Amino acid sequence: MRLKNQIAIVTGGASGFGESISHAFTAEGAAVVVADLNAEKGEQVAAALVAKGHRALFCRTDVTRTADMAQLVETTVQQFGRLDVMVNNAGISHANQPMLNVSEAEFDRIFQVNVKSLYLSAVHCVPVFRRQRSGCFINIGSTAAVRPRPGLTWYNGSKGAVVLITKSMAVELAPDNIRANAINPAIADTPLLTTFMGGADTPENRAKFTASIPLGRLGRSTDVANAAVFFADPASEFVTGVCMEVDGGRCI
Ligand SMILES: NC(=O)c1ccc[n+]([C@@H]2O[C@H](COP(=O)([O-])OP(=O)(O)OC[C@H]3O[C@@H](n4cnc5c(N)ncnc54)[C@H](O)[C@@H]3O)[C@@H](O)[C@H]2O)c1
Repeated sequence: MRLKNQIAIVTGGASGFGESISHAFTAEGAAVVVADLNAEKGEQVAAALVAKGHRALFCRTDVTRTADMAQLVETTVQQFGRLDVMVNNAGISHANQPMLNVSEAEFDRIFQVNVKSLYLSAVHCVPVFRRQRSGCFINIGSTAAVRPRPGLTWYNGSKGAVVLITKSMAVELAPDNIRANAINPAIADTPLLTTFMGGADTPENRAKFTASIPLGRLGRSTDVANAAVFFADPASEFVTGVCMEVDGGRCI
């Protein structure tokens, strides 16, 4: 059990990577608070974890709202006594399209969900981590931050911010024994796939994206979940400020 007695929050835990991270963390002994806008799916994920005998609960959260984030952290500490790992995974994108076609409202929403959420997560988690003299942020970036694809410019920029903020948090919070790392996944088979493709999920479209990945397949949620377990594991206590590609070689 690599995460025995650890307490974690996973934002965007109702779907895709977040769901997989929630399963991987609880399988390694952690208790998980699944935080998501989607109450129906989030409740289902938490119920599936509890049915397996794990400690989990759902907390409806909009990561762009400070009151929601405050309540999320408060509920976690009330229910489980502490908070060890904050996984900032909730994220959205505009569809793959020419950059000038993306509306101002959509741009704002992407930066709120993908970037402002990191600020709010820091505001509400850092005081708890400081009190405990330990804590760990795991931010989900993207290969978009390192090797951007055309048609996703504003999303790419938001993930660039995730990478830089992760490094900056790592260096600023290190004296408090708080770590911050990021995972940069390649395009993966989750509900976001067609958004990134900018077209239908056809075998031809998949082949086009698969061809851009040296290991010859799209990412899987479990690839990201396994990396998240590594960063959450106390065995990686000397690892901070790392933004690790989990991408089958896409960024080489
Ligand atoms: N799927 C990919 O190809 C891929 C590649 C690289 C990075 N990513 C990143 O991985 C993360 C997870 O993506 P995914 O593919 O699992 O997506 P997904 O759409 O399957 O899951 C995202 C979850 O976030 C939730 N969410 C959206 N806005 C929210 C908000 N304001 N507050 C709370 N929850 C909110 C959604 O309800 C959903 O459950 C995102 O940050 C995404 O940018 C995805």
